[in-house]
Amino acid sequence: MDAITLLKSDHKAVEQLFKRFEKCGDRAHVQKRQIVDRMIEELSVHAAIEEQIFYPVARGAVPDTEDITLESLEEHHVVKWLLSELVDMDPAHERFDAKVTVLIENVRHHVEEEESEFFPMVRKQLSRNDLAELGTALAEAKKSAPTKPHPRMPDAGPATAVAGAITGVVDRVGGNISGIAQGSVTAVQDLIARFTGSERPKVSPTGSSATRKRAIGVRSAASAATDGVQATARTAKSGAASTAKTAKAGAKGTATSATKSARATATTAKRASTTTRHTARAATRKTAATAKRSAAKTKAAASSSR
Ligand SMILES: [Fe+2]
Repeated sequence: MDAITLLKSDHKAVEQLFKRFEKCGDRAHVQKRQIVDRMIEELSVHAAIEEQIFYPVARGAVPDTEDITLESLEEHHVVKWLLSELVDMDPAHERFDAKVTVLIENVRHHVEEEESEFFPMVRKQLSRNDLAELGTALAEAKKSAPTKPHPRMPDAGPATAVAGAITGVVDRVGGNISGIAQGSVTAVQDLIARFTGSERPKVSPTGSSATRKRAIGVRSAASAATDGVQATARTAKSGAASTAKTAKAGAKGTATSATKSARATATTAKRASTTTRHTARAATRKTAATAKRSAAKTKAAASSSR
């Protein structure tokens, strides 16, 4: 199956799920959950193979698709966020249907744009043979593609580095889709092996010597790019850790001096309050004595006048 036919058949499969969802009654929560789980799986796999193989190859082989590829990546990004929110959402939640409706609108717009603009540009530039080889690569990549959405992956993760490296190779060497596609599939498998800690696949590219050479070049370029991303991530992580340590020490120092100053204020206030109490007592005693003396005087005056 050629690449574009394969991607279009994916689109048809999700459209059928959308129609089934739209026919569900308000209270068909179990059915809605099942349909949305299928949407999550289908769309996650589809987005992954497009991002990891189809877009980089199209962008490299058909330079005019650069803008539409970038737009498609942003559309995928939005869709993946919606999917990731739907993974654990209760279908009885008041926002569930609204979220699925927005997801469907977004995907339909994206599909319409791909089928009416993007795919025809690619079909015009690539030979039937190239498209068939690319289709085989996409079908192969489907077997190991993630079935859950990872919205952060394409923008910041090593998958972008792999895609970037593949794009770079395509830019430099032009055609030979078979080599590029084989190399990119292996590069993605390498990436998965790296994440899961399993062994890198032992894959030997097939085809002419130029094709094999290109496949090996794509794989090693992707691997170098992934190393670079991991090194940057490690540096960023240690930088963040030391910033956090400094902030913690600073916060501790501030807290200690704040405590000390609060204690000093409390002591001063206590002393002031004691002094005030003593002064008040003395003043009361003095007033009482004066009053007593004055009462005695009044009494003496009264008795002498009698
Ligand atoms: Fe897409």
